Amino acid sequence: MEIVETKDYEEMSILAAEKVIDRVLKQPQITLALPTGHTPVGLYKRLVEDHRKNETPYQDVITFNLDEYTDLSPDHPNSYHYYMNHHFFQHIDIQEKHAHLPDGTARNLDLECERYEELILKHGGVDLQILGIGQNGHIGFNEPGTPLNSRTHVVKLSESTRKANSRYFHSLQDVPYHAITMGLATIMNSKKILLLASGAHKSATMFRFFHEAVTPDFPATILKHHPNVTVIADRPALKEANVTRGM
Ligand code: F6R
Repeated sequence: MEIVETKDYEEMSILAAEKVIDRVLKQPQITLALPTGHTPVGLYKRLVEDHRKNETPYQDVITFNLDEYTDLSPDHPNSYHYYMNHHFFQHIDIQEKHAHLPDGTARNLDLECERYEELILKHGGVDLQILGIGQNGHIGFNEPGTPLNSRTHVVKLSESTRKANSRYFHSLQDVPYHAITMGLATIMNSKKILLLASGAHKSATMFRFFHEAVTPDFPATILKHHPNVTVIADRPALKEANVTRGM
């Protein structure tokens, strides 16, 4: 595992954007898997700036988002469809039909999970998976206790995750109770993984990530079994980590 420490959030975002742009230029038909949340906002901002300035092309890029809430329509301001359009898709030249998110409003959610998983496979799997990490070690919406061999599935959100995400909603009651997420095995199938972490509130998380054995109790630990992971984290997030950094 490669671990890169950056000074701060800005530098983390710039470095992550450089890596993504480099891959898109080398492989214009790349399949990316994308997270939402606070962490990647700066990355998307840099990608948009670069697209405006240098016209990095996204016409042939395919994207799959990691997750989506159930019961929120795509135009709901708290849906991940909305987030992705707002922060990224509407500012670049990606084709709408190439930008995939799970449909949290599907009548049969289990079938939707199967469809999503098959669609990823049909595109030859994910080339570059970008991840954030929840304070309890979740990746996507794979909460502690999620089986390590899970595929795209419906999850019941933990109260800590609902509370953490309620900052984006009017109130905690408005936060959905369920979501669709790529599973841990889906994530592990990606050819390359970029894990981003920023802020002192992630420092205990990063300590556990680096020092705990692989366990469903802290789902992100599964990434230790992946042969091609780069962690880009800022100094506050790594302040307790006690690991060797290097490019
Ligand atoms: C969202 C996702 C989540 C977030 C995690 C960290 O698509 O996959 O696992 O990455 O909750 O969220 P932030 O970045 O807001 O700290």
